[in-house]
Amino acid sequence: MINTYKNTVDYRKLVADWNSLMRTFIRPEDAAARSVLLKYMEQILFGLQEFLKTHVGITQEISLRDLAGQYSNSHISLTPEKKLDAVITELIEELAPRVVNVASPYFVGHMTAAIPFFMVHLKTIVTALNQNVVKIETSKLASVVEKQVLAKIHRLVYGCDDGFYGAHIQNVHTSLGGVTQDGTLANMTALWVARNRLLAPKEGFRGVENEGLSAALKAYGLGRCVLLVSRLAHYSLKKAAGVLGIGTENVIAIDVDSNNRMDLNSLRTTLDQLHGAAAKTAVLAIVGVAGTTETGTIDPLPEIAEICSLNKIHFHVDAAWGGPTLMSERYAPLLKGIELSDSVIIDGHKQLYMPMSCGLVLFKEPAAMDVIEYHANYIMRPGSVDLGTKSMAGSRAANSLILDYALKIMGKKGYALLIEHGIEVARELAAEIRRRPDFQLVTAPELNILTYRYCPAAMQKVFRSGSAQQRRDINARLDRINVQIQRLQREAGRSFVSRTTLKVDALGPEGIVVLRCVIMNPMTNLKILMEILDEQEAICQTYGLSGGNSN
Ligand SMILES: Cc1ncc(COP(=O)(O)O)c(C=O)c1O
Repeated sequence: MINTYKNTVDYRKLVADWNSLMRTFIRPEDAAARSVLLKYMEQILFGLQEFLKTHVGITQEISLRDLAGQYSNSHISLTPEKKLDAVITELIEELAPRVVNVASPYFVGHMTAAIPFFMVHLKTIVTALNQNVVKIETSKLASVVEKQVLAKIHRLVYGCDDGFYGAHIQNVHTSLGGVTQDGTLANMTALWVARNRLLAPKEGFRGVENEGLSAALKAYGLGRCVLLVSRLAHYSLKKAAGVLGIGTENVIAIDVDSNNRMDLNSLRTTLDQLHGAAAKTAVLAIVGVAGTTETGTIDPLPEIAEICSLNKIHFHVDAAWGGPTLMSERYAPLLKGIELSDSVIIDGHKQLYMPMSCGLVLFKEPAAMDVIEYHANYIMRPGSVDLGTKSMAGSRAANSLILDYALKIMGKKGYALLIEHGIEVARELAAEIRRRPDFQLVTAPELNILTYRYCPAAMQKVFRSGSAQQRRDINARLDRINVQIQRLQREAGRSFVSRTTLKVDALGPEGIVVLRCVIMNPMTNLKILMEILDEQEAICQTYGLSGGNSN
């Protein structure tokens, strides 16, 4: 239980003066305050999740509109308003219950979940040291550790030999990758490199980074530069195309097959069409996804790699979600072909269970990042270890310390247990959905994500034998029902699944609303998932969503 400190505090007048300021830099005010702060640290580490689990569920029942009304003060107070202990009390007792308890085993809707408790310790150390890995002068060993951890993840993906890592792990002239704020910036970094390598300097042209895209297209005699991605690829790739000047309309979505994997015939046809296009077209990269956001499926990586190799196209794999599957001997083969890519991204805050936020980008070739190198006179001099020389970000926290030590604490086997639990519980859930007559499994889990919808047995029967129009009508009704189920369950606050709209050929030409489960919490088990399905059935009964005419 969280202790309330409010009543025991001696509320002296709060002033902003030099002495008070100095105390905030040096130490807590006195021995009593120090012991209270230590107690709060203990509660943050061990009591907070327990408190939320016991008293809150997923989140307290209060509307966003009401909350927004309470947070409409745009004035910064002239003098201090609160002491730290009062702030911590407020954060624990008033804020925490109203954010989202993503650590709950009943929170199975998104790629954000519980983290091992030691991550809070590691994050605290990173915060206390406050290193800035943009340059060695503000980070020293932290930058060296970052190069080491990048080599560890590079080896997990590409499996090069000892000689390779010996030559590059601490080489100041080469980079095996970079640590970014998130998957979005990791994707952007990979495509930034791909763009600069494609439109590189040549006779009479100083490269796209220097002269810009229109000069680059002219220098290479191109009408257009495009990016090919699966229809189910993450929208961050579009953002990257926008920022890099490629243009979101030049991101070509390749259709997927019945298993939601990039359809290779569509890919080949698109490439043929681009080769024959009136405006000479260059392909910046083909992106294979290893764990799509909505369905968790993995594109056919070996085949895409072969197509890229034949056509001399940069092969990028977005493994933001699925990358850590490589830790599991049992399921690593699902990602076969990833080692053939030119670049890969993996999110630290997804299945590496790091605290928000961390992305990783890896390049097969240690010289690849040279094309995004920047220098400044006061730091980041040529030949330095300064990690800011090849990075989209400037100042940056030493989050790689968290990853390096988490890998030591967990080992591959520890991570494998988490990954295997997620995949296997997702399969059990799929079997349970198939067993229940009023549910329909829409996409089976390849990794640990699946989608389904509530679809009463009577409607399924009519759907199977119905005309195209009847199927459309049923889908429209089911869409409304599933939107309601998801909203009512979320508002009830005990559990959470997400929803999305998917185009599933077997169920009609239009997109349909589906419920989406992401299993990444080791405390989530089939019993909990069955309770979530029971709750959805109960919602349908209570609100009369299931009954009525089924045709
Ligand atoms: C496949 C994939 N790629 C990229 C991203 C973007 O990651 P982030 O949210 O860390 O920017 C996501 C996020 O869900 C994702 O699922």
